[in-house]
Amino acid sequence: MKLELEGMTKRFGSVVANDDISLVVEPGQIHSLLGENGAGKSTLMNLLFGLYHQDAGRILLDGKEVSFSGPGDAMAAGIGMVHQHFMLVPVFSVAENVVLGNEPITAMGSLDLAVARAKVREISARFGFDIDPDAIIEDLPVGIQQRVEIVKALARDAKILILDEPTAVLTPRETDELMGIMRQLANEGTSIVFITHKLREVKAVADVVTVIRGGKVIDSVSPETPIGELASLMVGREVDLTVDKAAPKMGDVVLSFRDVVVIDEWNQRVIDGVSLDVRAGEVLCVAGVEGNGQTALAETLLGLRSVSSGKIELAGRDITDDRVKAVLEAGVGYVPEDRKKDGLVADFTIQENFMLDGSFGAPWAKGLSIDFSARKKRSNELIEEFDVRTPSATTLVKKLSGGNQQKVVVARELSRDLKLFVAAQPTRGVDVGSIEFIHERIIQTRDSGIPVVIISTELDEVFSLADRIAVMYRGKIVGIVPPTTSREHIGQMMAGIMPEGVAA
Ligand SMILES: Nc1ncnc2c1ncn2[C@@H]1O[C@H](COP(=O)(O)OP(=O)(O)OP(=O)(O)O)[C@@H](O)[C@H]1O
Ligand SMILES: [Mg+2]
Repeated sequence: MKLELEGMTKRFGSVVANDDISLVVEPGQIHSLLGENGAGKSTLMNLLFGLYHQDAGRILLDGKEVSFSGPGDAMAAGIGMVHQHFMLVPVFSVAENVVLGNEPITAMGSLDLAVARAKVREISARFGFDIDPDAIIEDLPVGIQQRVEIVKALARDAKILILDEPTAVLTPRETDELMGIMRQLANEGTSIVFITHKLREVKAVADVVTVIRGGKVIDSVSPETPIGELASLMVGREVDLTVDKAAPKMGDVVLSFRDVVVIDEWNQRVIDGVSLDVRAGEVLCVAGVEGNGQTALAETLLGLRSVSSGKIELAGRDITDDRVKAVLEAGVGYVPEDRKKDGLVADFTIQENFMLDGSFGAPWAKGLSIDFSARKKRSNELIEEFDVRTPSATTLVKKLSGGNQQKVVVARELSRDLKLFVAAQPTRGVDVGSIEFIHERIIQTRDSGIPVVIISTELDEVFSLADRIAVMYRGKIVGIVPPTTSREHIGQMMAGIMPEGVAA
């Protein structure tokens, strides 16, 4: 199906999120939308999917103007959308979510549970996704939830498929598989709008790239355009994608794990005898295929999981049994994998979110009361420094674009008085310009003598930040290797194989 957007404009109060955007997506085309955080990509797609209504502009499908009063209409017209923020009902099963859709009455309202189960199985098999149709959404890790969103859109045989950062929570292998499926769908005639911040993916799969900045179309270019050029088109300046850093000055051991075992509620040894030392002045990256214990390792350190045996020490203090509040107060900065669940309160303002961890001391409070003027000043400094695109510090976090929400969490955690900084997927959903900045800040943190632990599924990120790379497989550390190790070797280690010639 051919899609035309003409003069699309959408305002939120004083913010012009989309400013006269025109775009054509040909049948069977993979059209990539690139743009920095807050550029207006999700807003445009939400207009197309009937979630918002445009202030001006027209949507045409195969040359005919359409108007949607909700996602149900959009789905009935053949549009499917995978949202940047999950729209799944947490207490329902996978199959129930597939049946539900976003609106109660749709053309596919008749999709019953048995059909949905079969669809889930069929599509999972095609993707190589391992999804149980009867699993309850809230029990699933974010990576799997993302896959459920994809399955849900595909189950309705969409003719136009909108993918808003579908790969942000996928592993590299899953991303490759998804791109394969996108290609296959496009060959069958499905038109795809693909939003991502990973320029490598754009180059691999897109037919056309449209760049949006400040709500306006800047240019449509070929995916052959060099990565550096795409990056500067997006952010309007040169971006340095390599991280400058000096050799680490290793200090004392600040964090140590000794034979730590964590057994989860299903009796799985999610952490299976991990011993690890992290020293002041280094960045240790923990790599692995999702579900092999990297996230659990961070959660265990933070006191979000109970240790069955073994010991964890922070700066010589036993924190094995400390709960999360005590660990944060002991000076551990933490960027969680799922910012929506653990990192932010969406209905609070930005400045309230900045205060969440440090609410008891300076610079936020004098004694027991909030120092309002200091809070405002400090919040504005952080917004400026971390380039959070927002009308003000009193904007609700839920009104920010995805990448800007991530910047709020990172800004808060990096600016606290720290003994250790731990981040899972610190640049998830963040545009290339801001990745550059966050990486620089992480290296500065390291150089100020604070050890850093990064959990990342992005090998590019691992290679640019790590002084040492610990690879996990099935709850164990397979080996700890220098960042000069090849991708292939790390890949093998992620599959549980310790290749010859690699120093552990
Ligand atoms: N519901 C809303 N209320 C108020 N402002 C909003 C709302 N939704 C989006 N905005 C604003 O519109 C602008 C565009 O946001 P949008 O989510 O479309 O950006 P994006 O390009 O998808 O960014 P990202 O890459 O971070 O996801 C931002 O300034 C955002 O704060
Ligand atoms: Mg977005």
